[in-house]
Amino acid sequence: MSPRHLTSIDDLSLEEIGSIFFLAEKYLRELAEPNIPYRVSKSTNACIGSVLATLFYEPSTRTRLSFESAMLRLGGQVISSTDPMASSTAKGESLADTIRMASAYADVLVLRHPLEGAAKFAAEYASVPLINAGDGAHEHPTQTLCDLFTIRRERGTLNDLTVALLGDLKSGRTAHSLAYALARYGANILLMPAKSLEFPDHVAARLQDAFGYRHMETGSLQGADERITGAFVPEGAALRTFNDIDVLYVTRFQKERSAAIATDYPTVNAAFLASEPFRNTLVLHPLPRVGELDPGFDRDNRAGYFRQASYGVPVRMALITFLLKEDGKRLASEDNSARTYDGIICGNANCISRDAGEPGASPNLESLTSDPPRLRCLYCGHEVSRA
Ligand code: CP
Repeated sequence: MSPRHLTSIDDLSLEEIGSIFFLAEKYLRELAEPNIPYRVSKSTNACIGSVLATLFYEPSTRTRLSFESAMLRLGGQVISSTDPMASSTAKGESLADTIRMASAYADVLVLRHPLEGAAKFAAEYASVPLINAGDGAHEHPTQTLCDLFTIRRERGTLNDLTVALLGDLKSGRTAHSLAYALARYGANILLMPAKSLEFPDHVAARLQDAFGYRHMETGSLQGADERITGAFVPEGAALRTFNDIDVLYVTRFQKERSAAIATDYPTVNAAFLASEPFRNTLVLHPLPRVGELDPGFDRDNRAGYFRQASYGVPVRMALITFLLKEDGKRLASEDNSARTYDGIICGNANCISRDAGEPGASPNLESLTSDPPRLRCLYCGHEVSRA
């Protein structure tokens, strides 16, 4: 039996996300002080005897530390590799071999990597559950769990919300995973990209093909804030005005994924949110922030981003428990059958399948039901031309 992995938010059904949140709520109820209800401050022994390994090939504060705190709060133990230059990666060891070895030393692996699709590829070599802690500009599914958990706690529901995504929608992996999840909850997704940083084509195509969403141009959004450049809405949803925005999700410019400099990047502050649609908006940010979200806004009632980061511990505690207890079950959406198409490689230069250091990462494509037929890379999600 293959172990259970989490490489994309799509790997969890909505029912499973609900189970993880139920457990996270239980941990908060039992392990938080009443005066700080979003912070786990006590420990349990739910995962005593288990070891978690964090393998981070990119910098992190929240994701790595909250995963490590989560495992320690569960009574388990942690081993870490936080700098590829201090591991055998610096000697040329492949990711595949690193994952094989880490599987021998730990019971659950948490991987952050700069290449898109690295988590899905690494999972092929992991004999224990592997969790994607961010793979290039592709996805960051556990951030999405924290985002959804915060929204549910602070808005009381995840259904039929209107959520605006702001900033670097091109390379912001948190925005990609969140959009895929929101689509399954029937949200209206409003787009507020920074200049030239719109959703990439493959993300837009996935929202339309996999989730039945349609793109609306600005002109068809009656009464919408002029800074909204478009929206994705469920197919068949009635045209409506967007004068009540439930959540604004702010993201920073991903300078590590771009050779260019961002120009005219928005700054979110009280003045930015002065208009009527934002009067009750919950403002979230995966953090770190680097200028796009004014610290002067932190004391505003609408600011939810530090609680959102604190929820990283109970949510990741619940996820670790879920994966370790679910170990041995196959993912509902998992399909390990690699399909290769002769001579066709992924066109995304930042895809793990293009990395010369990973000879095992050959093209892994699925054919989409479309006319004309299209191919999609199963590692990074980019669409691939047959030409
Ligand atoms: N949100 C997030 O992924 O933060 P870190 O990069 O600090 O882990």
